[in-house]
Amino acid sequence: MEKVILDCDPGHDDAIAIMLAAGNPAIDLLGITTVAGNQTIEKVTRNALSVCAAAGIHVPVARGASAPLVASQVVAEDIHGATGLDGPALPEPAFALDPRHAVDFIIDTVMAHESNTVNLVPVGPLTNIALAMRKEPRIIERVKSVVLMGGAHTRGNMTPHAEFNIYVDPEAAEAAFRADWNVTMVGLDLTHQALASAELQARVRAIGGPVSEFVGAVWDFVGAAYREVYEFEAPPVHDACCVAALIDPTIFTTAMADVRVELRGEWTRGTTVVNFRDVPGMHHSSGSAERQTDFRTAVALQLDQQRFADQVVDAVERLTANLAK
Ligand code: BDR
Ligand code: CA
Repeated sequence: MEKVILDCDPGHDDAIAIMLAAGNPAIDLLGITTVAGNQTIEKVTRNALSVCAAAGIHVPVARGASAPLVASQVVAEDIHGATGLDGPALPEPAFALDPRHAVDFIIDTVMAHESNTVNLVPVGPLTNIALAMRKEPRIIERVKSVVLMGGAHTRGNMTPHAEFNIYVDPEAAEAAFRADWNVTMVGLDLTHQALASAELQARVRAIGGPVSEFVGAVWDFVGAAYREVYEFEAPPVHDACCVAALIDPTIFTTAMADVRVELRGEWTRGTTVVNFRDVPGMHHSSGSAERQTDFRTAVALQLDQQRFADQVVDAVERLTANLAK
């Protein structure tokens, strides 16, 4: 079993990531931490609790940073709505928040478990992760892996090149990429392959029951937003891809790359600048002599869409069966 702390900003695809993590027997979900991103910290934290209530999930939920390290706060209301999780009925929380700040929850949990056993899965801006590293640097050598949703090497979704999670808190993201731990970058190049296609939506709806209805309503809302804003036929289930990789490490291919976050560009702030080591046609000269190329990040490239869809369906089935118990 892979131990996971899911750091998120629910968020429609975050909701599916929570359900996949809680609904797959290969994942030991140690806790959910929240960060301001898709909406304010109050809203995304409340949404995390509502997702747990809707799906019968009982794990600690700790509220985290309310704003990026340096930048002013930006939310994604055009995609996720006024609540941050518009569409499904959001049930009252079934339990209270963990009393700790998310940063302390992350530190305590990583330090309490054996070294090299806890995976961090940040699927929102990286604010909590950067703060935790700064407060307790020993977590860096203890964490097994960081599988983050963010960045892109072909296109952005906030600006032509910048992806939302990195754009919102670029300083935090750069700190996470620079730290000496194993990072997998699950960017838009990968997550745009993980679509809630009509077929996947039909499979989930066919399960029936409250979890299936919740997920159906999630995809109805975010599907309409993605059609309107990006002209996508189906909405990407971005964040769930990180959990999928911990369930099945062969679900996508990766290549090692040097990833830098642009912190100063007039048009490019928040862009991940990705230099692949050994992908034919995608290796760039490291250019200037003043910086050393550092191929330390595994960048996700090609998703097995069928296996991803099967994982999501399986998790909804298991959560549905658990609710009935
Ligand atoms: C990322 O931004 C958020 O809106 C999603 O939840 C996902 O984490 C995609 O760019
Ligand atoms: Ca997210």
